[in-house]
Amino acid sequence: MSFPVPTMPVPPVSVVGLGQLGGSLAAALVAAGRPVSGWDVDPSARGAAAARGVAISPELTGVVVLAVPMPALTSALDGLFLDPDATVTDIGSVKGAVVAALGAAHGDRFVGGHPMCGTERSGHQATDPTLFAGARWALCLEPGTDLRRWLRVAEVALAVGAEVVPVTAAEHDDAVAAISAVPHLLAAALAAAAAEAGPLALGLAAGSFRDGTRVIASDPRFVTALVEGNAGPAGAALDRVLAQLDRPWPDLVTAGHTARTAAPGRRAVRVPLDRAALLALGRAGGAVDRRQAAFVEGWVPEV
Ligand SMILES: NC(=O)c1ccc[n+]([C@@H]2O[C@H](COP(=O)([O-])OP(=O)(O)OC[C@H]3O[C@@H](n4cnc5c(N)ncnc54)[C@H](O)[C@@H]3O)[C@@H](O)[C@H]2O)c1
Repeated sequence: MSFPVPTMPVPPVSVVGLGQLGGSLAAALVAAGRPVSGWDVDPSARGAAAARGVAISPELTGVVVLAVPMPALTSALDGLFLDPDATVTDIGSVKGAVVAALGAAHGDRFVGGHPMCGTERSGHQATDPTLFAGARWALCLEPGTDLRRWLRVAEVALAVGAEVVPVTAAEHDDAVAAISAVPHLLAAALAAAAAEAGPLALGLAAGSFRDGTRVIASDPRFVTALVEGNAGPAGAALDRVLAQLDRPWPDLVTAGHTARTAAPGRRAVRVPLDRAALLALGRAGGAVDRRQAAFVEGWVPEV
């Protein structure tokens, strides 16, 4: 079913958790001229956000973005004042368990999300208002998702320069296991194995080692939540990597090089405001880059 959605006034945004991701989002929204408020349990994070023009308030309205560490997601609103009409979203790196828990708490007011950006740094000192520019932002379209609320959250992502990828939580977790959980686990294994190889190996380590191990410099609590919270898909994705390592090495090197250097073009598409059509765009590897009144514009890889 597809139906037109009238253009709506831009809602304010409230960000709970003003660390690397939340602080960056709030700062980017300030730069985009959007009304934005925020809250953090840490007074120094509140102070840093206020200095960037974010209104500090425990009263949350419009689109409320939960940008706290995943273990804190279900309690992040405790003691705060949530407008009953607010749309709640999160940016946690795992979606299945989060969508189940926050969907149970907020019903169809909740839309799960995950921007695919961030660095190994954390805290408000790592704030970067350009963090979301050009990033993909996965946004969950479950069978019960309210499409009008999904679009409100999508507009926030588009406002900070991200491209929106419609997904189900299960599809997200399978896909992200391959490109996020596995790299974190492999980076940990590489770093630990090189340490076992001894000081000479570490003394000679240069670009390949630095790039291959960068992400394991992240906060171990963040990485643990990311891999353990997605354990099933991460295990399956790791099995695929282990199977690749069993191939003859010349074949493996060629296959990896070909996959990494393939550069498909892009074909512009219009997609109706319809769950099946939007999910098909995400499955094709495409994304939404603009909202219109009765459809969205985006692109798919050109094969
Ligand atoms: N770091 C990444 O690369 C990355 C990428 C995409 C998504 N994420 C997700 O974004 C979320 C935040 O990650 P981050 O890297 O910005 O973490 P961070 O540690 O930089 O920031 C988290 C902030 O939340 C605050 N906080 C903790 N508990 C709180 C509570 N109950 N109420 C209010 N504030 C609270 C902390 O004081 C801190 O300022 C996580 O859910 C993570 O999975 C992270």
